[in-house]
Amino acid sequence: MEYQVHEESPRVLVVDDEKVIREILSDFLTMEGYVVRTVEDGDAALRELERRSYNLVISDLKMPGMGGLELLEKIADLKANVLTVIMTGFGTVETAIEAMKKGAYDYILKPFKIEEVVHVVERGLDRQRLHAENIRLKEAVSLYKISEAIAESLSLEKVLDLILDGVLVEAQADAVTLMLKDPRTGLFVERSRKISPLADSGFTGELNLTELLEHYSHDKPLLAHGLKALKFFAEPPKDRRLVSFCSIPLKVQDRVIGMLNAYSYTRGYKFTEGQRKMLSVLANRAAVSIENARLYEDLVQKNCDLTTVNQSLADNFRATIIGFAHALEESDKYTRGHSERVAFYSSLTARGLTLGEPETERIVQAGLMHDIGKIGIRYEKLNKPGKLTPEEVAMFRTHPAKGKRILEPIPSMAELIPGAWCHHENWDGSGYPRGLLGENIPLLGRIVAIADTYDAMTSDRSYRKALPHDVAVAELERCAGAQFDPELVPQFIRMVDDHRKTQIAAGNEIPR
Ligand SMILES: [Fe+2]
Repeated sequence: MEYQVHEESPRVLVVDDEKVIREILSDFLTMEGYVVRTVEDGDAALRELERRSYNLVISDLKMPGMGGLELLEKIADLKANVLTVIMTGFGTVETAIEAMKKGAYDYILKPFKIEEVVHVVERGLDRQRLHAENIRLKEAVSLYKISEAIAESLSLEKVLDLILDGVLVEAQADAVTLMLKDPRTGLFVERSRKISPLADSGFTGELNLTELLEHYSHDKPLLAHGLKALKFFAEPPKDRRLVSFCSIPLKVQDRVIGMLNAYSYTRGYKFTEGQRKMLSVLANRAAVSIENARLYEDLVQKNCDLTTVNQSLADNFRATIIGFAHALEESDKYTRGHSERVAFYSSLTARGLTLGEPETERIVQAGLMHDIGKIGIRYEKLNKPGKLTPEEVAMFRTHPAKGKRILEPIPSMAELIPGAWCHHENWDGSGYPRGLLGENIPLLGRIVAIADTYDAMTSDRSYRKALPHDVAVAELERCAGAQFDPELVPQFIRMVDDHRKTQIAAGNEIPR
């Protein structure tokens, strides 16, 4: 009789030395829709169980050779995830109970009614299904938790760790490795490895990447057991027999960025199709997270690079300004060092006002550039002893506006313009080029004006010798409120006095 059997019908193995019992059970259980195989003793049963997977084994208790109890123990060793039901005569109920203690699911007393057998089998398989669903549910929950943790993390190392820990626990693997493609070299490098605490540090062998990638390219799942798995190794694991191997590509938009590999060395422990699917889900999530973590790390690195670039731009800018100042002073020996000193004296006032570092830096730069408009003015005429002609004075007075014109087209220098343009404006409105009054003169211009005049007075000029510090200070005080901002003058004097004291205390020479 042929019965229509569904692909996923539960499989039952009947073990009995009596042919008639085997035939009766086979016929009736087949009619119930199960796939049934029969064997006549324990050895044959074990061989069959190693060849195929079964949901349930019905075994006689007393058989020649290996008895039912011994078979039960050996089945337990196989870890084959199979339910066992023992059949026994009336006189041996105690033995049947012992069998249940050893892990049998149930027992059937001979002679049996066929409905009774069917009922026991149905009940057993129901329980097995429920158990499997429970496990799947538990797996799904922990998978979800791992996934969430992975998705939340932006650190590549942490993501890798979470994946490895997750696979080790959820797939009960003995070892897990993660190979990642180095974006620069294109080579796959083992980034991480975990070994189950139960296993010793077994060598995981060397994967045959060409074979693996070829396999991935056909979009086939890679779950292989025993010798078949060794095909994917360039060098098989040392001192260990590989029992089961599962490898999943980590893909981002069809690009393989890495591979997740699980190894089992435990006798009889093979990864299941369900576990492979679980690894796939994890690998998909991991691939995205690894990519994100990498992008994030890239971003951090780029930010860091940018800061370095900014720093070197700022250094460059400073050097350029100093270069300009030197270019200016090359043409006039009397102003050598003047720009740098004006920058320094301006910074003293800025510090006295407790302006912030960026503002102080800007004031230093403005000090360096304040006379940049003098480039192009012919000095030999101006550096003569005696009075300047009105034409010469007019020419000299063009330098603030020239300075503005020079700086204007350079965006990074535009903010230094007030220093160059306004350092000859006077507090009382009598200065040039615009005759600005009081606080209408930008602070930068007012600060540089004091520094400029102090340095001019305390330096040698073509037409006179340098004045002593005290005389220059007295002159500044006299002109506070007329030429200079009356609030800035005392600030400057206090700071420059402090500076001179510090220099003297350090044993440095200072101008008179
Ligand atoms: Fe000037």
